[in-house]
Amino acid sequence: MNEIILAIIQALWFIFPAYIANPAPVIIGGKTPIDFNKKFRDKKPILGKGKTWRGTFFGILVGTAAAYLQIIIQTSYDLSALNLTEMTLTLGFLLASGAIIGDIVKSFFKRRINIKRGNELPFLDQLDFLIGAFIFASFVTKIPLETIIILLILTPVVHRLANILAFKLKLKKVPW
Ligand code: CTP
Ligand code: MG
Repeated sequence: MNEIILAIIQALWFIFPAYIANPAPVIIGGKTPIDFNKKFRDKKPILGKGKTWRGTFFGILVGTAAAYLQIIIQTSYDLSALNLTEMTLTLGFLLASGAIIGDIVKSFFKRRINIKRGNELPFLDQLDFLIGAFIFASFVTKIPLETIIILLILTPVVHRLANILAFKLKLKKVPW
């Protein structure tokens, strides 16, 4: 197999729980905001209404469930030729929670620089969850540099396409 294609498959396999966790709250987000509508010292929302308890909880749950699916796949089939990262529930949970928390931390900074909930912050809106997932996953595994590079390039493209799709399906009000 072409080396680049193999490296892309390895990268997507690794990040899969984060890719599932990140968009899940769009579909299953709730009402109660994490910040309970409280304001920060600057009188602006701490996180804003776009970060809810329900979205956070289910995002982490669904992402971890995606890792469970990968565990079933890797124990059912011989994928040794692909040299994939061994998925575990711990790694899946860290990738999912890192993704969700990365997105929440980004919202905190968006509010501080006066970007209203739902308004776009280019690059960080696309990479927040990836950076969070990398940081959390690095507690238990060494992420290959080529995986990091591939995902930094690929994720904004995948993210953009997914959001345009969600917009067209009327799941999101804005295409970002
Ligand atoms: N969502 C949620 N809980 C989260 C993250 C997201 O409930 N932890 C839901 C919200 O309904 C949110 C939607 O998913 O509006 C889209 O998420 P995102 O684009 O991250 O939030 P925004 O509304 O754009 O807010 P922000 O400007 O703070 O990123
Ligand atoms: Mg948004």
